[in-house]
Amino acid sequence: MSSLRVRIAVALVVAIVSVVTVITGLVLALLSPPGPEHTIQPVARQLELLINAAEAHPESFNLASAPAVGAADQSTTEWLRDVILARGNGRKPEVIVVRAPGNGPMQASVRIGSRGWLVAPIPDLPPRKGPLHVLFGWLGLITIGATTIAVYVAHRMVLTLALLQNAVEKIGPDGTLPSLPEVGPAEVRATARALNTLSARLTSAMDSRMRVVAAAGHDMRTPITRMRLRTEFIEDDAERSHWLRDIDELNRIADSAIALVRASASTFEVENLRLDELVAAIASDLRDQKLDVHVVSTVPVSVRVDRLVLSRALRNLLINAATHGLSAEARVEHASPATARIVIQDRGPGIPDEKIGQVFEPFFRVDRARRQDIPGAGLGLTIAREIIQLAGGTITIRNGTGGGLVQEVDLPAV
Ligand SMILES: Nc1ncnc2c1ncn2[C@@H]1O[C@H](COP(=O)(O)OP(=O)(O)OP(=O)(O)O)[C@@H](O)[C@H]1O
Ligand SMILES: [Mg+2]
Repeated sequence: MSSLRVRIAVALVVAIVSVVTVITGLVLALLSPPGPEHTIQPVARQLELLINAAEAHPESFNLASAPAVGAADQSTTEWLRDVILARGNGRKPEVIVVRAPGNGPMQASVRIGSRGWLVAPIPDLPPRKGPLHVLFGWLGLITIGATTIAVYVAHRMVLTLALLQNAVEKIGPDGTLPSLPEVGPAEVRATARALNTLSARLTSAMDSRMRVVAAAGHDMRTPITRMRLRTEFIEDDAERSHWLRDIDELNRIADSAIALVRASASTFEVENLRLDELVAAIASDLRDQKLDVHVVSTVPVSVRVDRLVLSRALRNLLINAATHGLSAEARVEHASPATARIVIQDRGPGIPDEKIGQVFEPFFRVDRARRQDIPGAGLGLTIAREIIQLAGGTITIRNGTGGGLVQEVDLPAV
């Protein structure tokens, strides 16, 4: 009952069958002929006259020695007997109604004392009620017909919704929607066309946003180089080192902006590689750079990814844990038989709950005042998520129950 399609179909069937049942009942009540209990009276009166005459002058009647033979009609027999009795001549008449063999006429036989039987034809009385099975058959056929139509109508009505649902399910990790076929009923075609237009606009908006970021990153490099050269002319050493630090930060921002565009636009050279070995290699590399990064446990698990691109994402996460989070402890495990998981836990302050929803936004930094202590552009997590999603994986970041930040990356295992 949960699907909209089933609900619409059931509502239609119930509505149609109820209306038809009520109307059928009314029509039957108004149009059906009166039952035999109403038409039997005149027949009984005529028979009674005959009985009286036969009892008064039996010699004038051709009385039979036995009742007429044929298929006994029990109900008509009883009605006749009851009506004649009720009309009050006090005697209980002995009546037998039969239908003559070969679907012949109806015949009533009445015993006239010991003289024999008076046999008289009587008219065919209408059946008491229309047979019930005909009524049920009629309603059954209507139910079958209504169900067929209702299922078809419900199917047509939810086509557009089904299309929307399928479209939403097909939205890729980069937020784009594959082109939908513009076929089917008019509403479905219109919806598919609208979604295709939306998807095309979205793709072009995203492309132009990326072009702007790449161009800005690229164009910043020339003035940055010029500024670096100019610092040579600053005589005060402290002043010069301040300038150089700011210029380094600008440089990092430009590099990260270009890396972000590369992450979403690059063509990947995917290969099967051991995730546990990759994580161990990155950790050892970072330890060489004096960062506190340790792999505490691993299981052998392979993933199908571009080694360089995934390394960039995992390096970002491990560096974050080792810098913002003071030290990084990484584990590689199976989240399920089909999913490899990397968990990175640190011992830092975590991220305030009200801000943790923004961590993947470009240029997000928890505390802008601290930005000089730990250099960064605020693009590391944006790039990491882009890469992981394009590899068919997911990343979640939450505060650990015992403090620190927990970063979890799930990737399809092979
Ligand atoms: N493990 C962590 N513990 C606490 N805060 C974190 C952690 N990881 C990230 N953050 C916060 O999230 C912000 C965004 O991280 P992100 O990696 O995107 O940028 P970044 O590290 O500042 O710069 P970069 O672009 O060089 O990586 C950080 O500036 C920091 O404030
Ligand atoms: Mg970072």
